[in-house]
Amino acid sequence: MHHFAYRDGSLHAEGVDLERIAAEVGTPVYVYSSATIERHYKLFAAAMKTVAPAGRTHVFYAMKANGNLGVLKTLGALGAGIDTVSEGEVRKALAAGIPAGRIVFSGVGKSAEELRFAVEAGIYQVNIESESELDLLSKVGAALGKRQEAVFRVNPDIGAGGHAKITTGSSENKFGVSFEEVGRLYARAANMPGVRIMGLALHIGSQIHEIDAFEAAYAKIVALTGALRGEGHRVDRLDLGGGLGIPYDIPKTFDYGPGLIEAYAAMVAKVTKGLDVELGFEPGRLIVGNAGILLTRVLHLNQRPMKRFLVVDAAMNDLVRPAMYEAYHEIWPVKEPAPDAAEVAYDVVGPICETGDTFTTGRVLPVMKQDDLIAFMTAGAYGASMSSTYNQRLLVAEVMVKGETYAVTRPRQSYEALIGTDRVPEWFG
Ligand code: LLP
Repeated sequence: MHHFAYRDGSLHAEGVDLERIAAEVGTPVYVYSSATIERHYKLFAAAMKTVAPAGRTHVFYAMKANGNLGVLKTLGALGAGIDTVSEGEVRKALAAGIPAGRIVFSGVGKSAEELRFAVEAGIYQVNIESESELDLLSKVGAALGKRQEAVFRVNPDIGAGGHAKITTGSSENKFGVSFEEVGRLYARAANMPGVRIMGLALHIGSQIHEIDAFEAAYAKIVALTGALRGEGHRVDRLDLGGGLGIPYDIPKTFDYGPGLIEAYAAMVAKVTKGLDVELGFEPGRLIVGNAGILLTRVLHLNQRPMKRFLVVDAAMNDLVRPAMYEAYHEIWPVKEPAPDAAEVAYDVVGPICETGDTFTTGRVLPVMKQDDLIAFMTAGAYGASMSSTYNQRLLVAEVMVKGETYAVTRPRQSYEALIGTDRVPEWFG
């Protein structure tokens, strides 16, 4: 479920008319519903609480999906932890008031500086992805006089996900240490001064709807836990990653209920039964995906003999998912179409100078005219967080709605900022 719906003939985010946001903030602009974010977090956290005894499950929202401070504050107030993948994300989580003790640091390529910052800040856990990272983390920890708690991210050789580019769990992918290596690394780590290994982590991919894929991977990590314990190693924590999929092709009446979340929770409870571990989860898309839309205005209609192009003011630099993953996003006109409105097929494109800047082809929509507003639905995850300034376009604005009010949580970048961050080499005088 989400909180975008037509009211009095116009699409609203909760109680706020998107026409109003477009008029006051301009377009393109991302609009997030705090009620939807809260709802999804609460549904997920409540379901996960049922899989293990009280206090033994932890939800670390994967900030890469959407790192806006408004989003982080909303989740932090509900007690969420944060899964980060760079020093910038660790800093942003701290800036949002998330206690360091609720921050996990994942990722294949952490530098010494990044690890130093995170260890010094006192984060909960580092997810180690390679032997050389283990060595580096221990060195960093020892230099700071700390033993950083960490887990090994293992590669279960079970990949899944909505697109090859977002599959991570296959042995072909760059992520994690192999099952065969982890025992040896555990043994080495036991004698290292700057690190304390607490358990294991895995993450097999993103936009996954098949519970079976998760189950197969989790069964492997549970078996590995038993084997490692048999060798005398400590496995107190399992971080089961994120990856739960969401519906992108939502009919307007779709009730995005807890079905998949509940099935997932039941599966986790079954697979980890009696294991006596703390469980961590890193959902990203599930929490924010359909809590956000990208609002854009029609700039031009280009009608050619064989095609109609709808040129909008958003582009692939604002929302790259269609260009990068052939991703599908529903398009809803902001003005509610009459039930008998004439429809035609459009190629919806942005202003960027490459053909890849195409959001969709042949999409049947009500007849549009210049200045009409449309919304790309389900754009809350990996939308703004993947945006750029390609073609020297301003970084997109972001807005958060709460009930009848809204706040600009990222003003549109200014041209001064866009140009002013570059520096002219001094030899130009
Ligand atoms: N944990 C780790 C270690 C991850 O790599 C990811 C996502 C997550 C958690 C969160 O996964 P989620 O619950 O959001 O599926 N840009 C792509 C998605 C990339 C996902 C990368 N890793 C897209 O727009 O579809």
